[in-house]
Amino acid sequence: MDMKQFDGLRSLATMCRTVRRYKTDSAPTREELLSFVDIARISPSAANRQRLLYKIISGEEAERVFSMISLGGYLPEDERPTRDMRPTGYIVILAKETEPDTNLAIDIGIAAESIVLAACEAGYGSCMIRSFKREGILSLIKAEGLTPHLVIALGKASECARIIPMKDGDVRYYRDGGCNLVPKRDLCDVVVE
Ligand SMILES: Cc1cc2nc3c(=O)[nH]c(=O)nc-3n(C[C@H](O)[C@H](O)[C@H](O)COP(=O)(O)O)c2cc1C
Repeated sequence: MDMKQFDGLRSLATMCRTVRRYKTDSAPTREELLSFVDIARISPSAANRQRLLYKIISGEEAERVFSMISLGGYLPEDERPTRDMRPTGYIVILAKETEPDTNLAIDIGIAAESIVLAACEAGYGSCMIRSFKREGILSLIKAEGLTPHLVIALGKASECARIIPMKDGDVRYYRDGGCNLVPKRDLCDVVVE
C-alpha cells in the first residue's frame, strides 16, 4: 500500500494532539462547534442506530465547566492548567443509555475523533475528557433522561503538543519547554504478525 496517498489525513492526525492549555481571549463560535457536531453526525455508527446526542456549551456557560473537569492526570499538580488557561467551548456526547454497551462506546469514540479532527482542521485544540463531574454537567444540559458520556473541551491552544517515541513502555505524557510530549508506540510494536 502506498502510505503517501494518505498524507492529508496523516498530517492532520499527527497535529491533532490533546491540548490542555487554552487562550481565553478567543473562543470557537456556536456555529463552529455545530459544524464539528455535523461531522460526528455523519460518522459510522453500529447498525446505523445513531444513538448519540450532543450538547454544545459556549459563551458564558462554558466558563462554568472548568470546575467540573479534570485535566492532565499524569502531570504534577503545579503543571496542570489553571482557570486562566481554561477551554472556551465544549461538546458533550450524550446518550439515553446510562451503561454504554460496547457498540455505543465504539460509536462515542468514533464521533469524538471526528469532532477533534474537524476542530483541529479549523485551528482549534481539544481534549477528550472522561474525568468530569456528572452532576455538574447534567445541571448544564437540562435534558431529562440523557447521560453524558464524554466531554470534549475546545479552544485556541496556548501550548504546543507533539508525539515522541515511547521509551521503556512508559505511556505517560509530560511537559517540557512549554510543550506537551506524548509517547506513542512504534508501528512495529502495534502490528500483530
Ligand atoms: C476516552 C478518553 C478519555 C480521556 N479523558 C481525559 C481526561 O479526563 N482528562 C484529560 O486531561 N485527558 C483525557 N484524555 C486525553 C488523553 O490523556 C490523551 O488522548 C492521551 O494522553 C494521548 O494524547 P494525544 O491525544 O495527544 O494522543 C482522554 C482521552 C480519551 C480517548
